[in-house]
Amino acid sequence: MCGIFGHISVGGKNSASVCLQGLKFLEYRGYDSAGISGIYKKKLKSFKHVGKVSSLQSLNLHLGIAIAHTRWATHGAITQANAHPHFDERKEFSIVHNGIIENYLDLKRELMNQGVVFQSETDTEVVVHLLAREYQGSLFDAMKRVTQKLRGAFALAAISSKEPESIVCAVRSAPLIIGICHETGDIYLSSDANAFSGMTLDVFYLLNDEIASLTPEKICVINKHGVELVKNLERLELKHTKLDKEGFEHYLLKEICEQPQSLMRALLGRIDEMNMTPIFSELTLEDHVFMDCDHITILGCGSAYHAGYIAKSMIEKMAGKHVSVEIASEFRYNQPLITEKTLVIAISQSGETADTIAAIELAQQKTSRIIAICNVMTSTIARMIKNTISLKAGPEISVCSTKAFTSQLLVLLLLAIKFGRTLALTKNEATSLFSQIHDMISGVEKLLEQKSEIEQMAKKTSHYDHTFFIGRQEMVPTCLEAALKLKEVSYVNALGIAAGELKHGTIALITPQSLTIALCGNERTEEKMESNMMEIISRNGPVFAFANEGCQSIQKLTENVIFLPKLSDQFSPFLYAVATQLYAYYVAKERGCDIDQPRNLAKSVTVE
Ligand code: F6R
Repeated sequence: MCGIFGHISVGGKNSASVCLQGLKFLEYRGYDSAGISGIYKKKLKSFKHVGKVSSLQSLNLHLGIAIAHTRWATHGAITQANAHPHFDERKEFSIVHNGIIENYLDLKRELMNQGVVFQSETDTEVVVHLLAREYQGSLFDAMKRVTQKLRGAFALAAISSKEPESIVCAVRSAPLIIGICHETGDIYLSSDANAFSGMTLDVFYLLNDEIASLTPEKICVINKHGVELVKNLERLELKHTKLDKEGFEHYLLKEICEQPQSLMRALLGRIDEMNMTPIFSELTLEDHVFMDCDHITILGCGSAYHAGYIAKSMIEKMAGKHVSVEIASEFRYNQPLITEKTLVIAISQSGETADTIAAIELAQQKTSRIIAICNVMTSTIARMIKNTISLKAGPEISVCSTKAFTSQLLVLLLLAIKFGRTLALTKNEATSLFSQIHDMISGVEKLLEQKSEIEQMAKKTSHYDHTFFIGRQEMVPTCLEAALKLKEVSYVNALGIAAGELKHGTIALITPQSLTIALCGNERTEEKMESNMMEIISRNGPVFAFANEGCQSIQKLTENVIFLPKLSDQFSPFLYAVATQLYAYYVAKERGCDIDQPRNLAKSVTVE
């Protein structure tokens, strides 16, 4: 987590304003505190505040060089002292950091024994004290020596009043991109290329254990052996990304409502109508990779994991291959039974999730059959995996994932059809599936017109502090996703559970004060689902439901039903996911939550 940005001005721009603008694009990586350091009249100047980047807005200083940071707290509380940048005791060196220094306690102990007084509880502060101690006339050389002492993950940027024209950066297992403006000669650095919105830059990425010295005269990069590297520059031309709610009260609502368009983008140009098979221009894998794979493993975290869980049954049905879905943070510590015949599909909206990256690295040791599915195509995962399919969902600003989730589902469905077509799925079956995809997108459009019904349901139920989502078959992972959305944006304690599992324990929690929302999107198990709802009603548990249009029997159980357009069982998760996203949104609104930036969260989870 955390985002870092830096700028050296050659063309006269104010580095303070450039960094503030850059930080706004990185705020999705954390918004606990923000800070900036620069050199002003040969002295280090810095500003840091608890809270969002906007808290730095009053900064009124013209800087020619600056480094900046937006924090998601890992080590140390959310306080001004723990906000980055951090300094040495003489305030001659300043540093910003993304990642975790795992051996910081040992280093801190050593430094304290030497009399260093620490100002913060962070892991980062050890780095700046070490830099000051190792400095013998070159910040670059000091950084070389310091990084040899560090364990863990880091993207670091440091400045010093002793070298007022340079920034030194170092990277291990964390992203950092460096860009040069060919017109002005200005130099930029950022945790994410998207922060270069509206700019045309010649860029390169710093890779593991590389260190860079950036000055207006020269950029020098070395590897861990001290060998100077020639970095290939790539021209990056980023259109100006409008951070604009376009009339919506929150990004979350805007992004929920964009789903008919984002789903269409994920579909367009991806159907070979002659052969009735999906095509992905991004994939270079031959068909035999699917045909003779003996197992498919899907990796992801949070919503991406849920998308994989929903897709499991789609792929198993269409391709007849066994699919296992693994939480990336667990997989990375397992001894996975992967062989070179296993096809791995890694899903990540941001492409920066540390656990997913580590899980991919583990999978890469065993198989070369890896497909990634990402929304951010400049991200670490998209750069690591040649076969990365783009979600084309467009920037997702709200921390809570919505449109990227449904696009992940759609891309997985297309992959399922593609695998199926290389095996037993007929042209006619594929034709029917494509037509159902179009019906699904129209269904999402129709459902969005029912927003106010869902808002009413949220108004009636927002006072419940405990909510259970129950469902069967494809609705089980959909319930997990619904519960995650409600938890993260409205802070309601929500649980998604297979309806048939209730009686095995969880039913003990049913009281008049706990709400159950039944997701009745699976026609095959309709009657079983109704019995499970009855079990709750009999115990005085309030039950609301989302159900398929035309399913009248539900109304005998509860008057609180919202009917959704009817689709086949395997397509229902799309609609029920969107309906429960809306529900979570309106409950959060009723409860007065910080909807787009919920407490304790960050959009990109770059630490373990
Ligand atoms: C939930 C949410 C998270 C992410 C998870 C993985 O709304 O956004 O659960 O899905 O952190 O993130 P990515 O997909 O970027 O790897």
